[in-house]
Amino acid sequence: MQFFVDTANLNEIREAAELGILDGVTTNPSLMAKEGITGEKNVLDHYKAICKIVGDDKDVSAEVIATDYAGMIKEGVKLAGLHENIVVKVPMIRDGIKAISYFTNEGIKTNCTLVFSAGQAILAAKAGATYLSPFVGRLDDISWDGIALIEEIAEIYETTGFETAILAASIRSPLHIVQAAKAGAHVVTCPLSAILGLLNHPLTDIGLAKFLADHKKANG
Ligand code: E4P
Repeated sequence: MQFFVDTANLNEIREAAELGILDGVTTNPSLMAKEGITGEKNVLDHYKAICKIVGDDKDVSAEVIATDYAGMIKEGVKLAGLHENIVVKVPMIRDGIKAISYFTNEGIKTNCTLVFSAGQAILAAKAGATYLSPFVGRLDDISWDGIALIEEIAEIYETTGFETAILAASIRSPLHIVQAAKAGAHVVTCPLSAILGLLNHPLTDIGLAKFLADHKKANG
């Protein structure tokens, strides 16, 4: 399973990359706005900076703002031209599916975002999306079962042979990561804090303290 960080914060991306376990980055317009990145040139430069930090073989999702076919194609082609690892992130709407089909034919990688149902997952895979982003946390927020959706899509893709990678998005906690892995997600994207949360276990801390104390007692 691959680990992406879901942020546009360069320090957080750098910190995740330094851990040696980072496979890619996802961003969205809200995350870019949170970092104060505005204006086309700054946005494009920011994506280039992210690609430089993560290295050549890591995918970086950059989301289009346009919601019409022609606009999405224009933006997506520009984004894809920034770096070979840019993945054009396209919303799950009618023109989005049309745009994903176009990008697929052009050999441009895509991430179909804002996915909340198995039907949407089938359509995106049929259009050839490289990644599919079902939003686990946002489903949980409205008391639907986000992880159950990952399980359902994994079963469908396994049965049908669709090659689209399930990128479990809106992952907010270490438990979500474990559940998404069990449910068959190929990728999780989450804040670095959720990844770091996987480290924690009180018995690890107690065990390490005891090892160090015993070593000190024996060695002075
Ligand atoms: C990533 O691709 C999504 O845009 C993101 O995971 C959404 O997360 P949120 O629901 O925590 O905003």
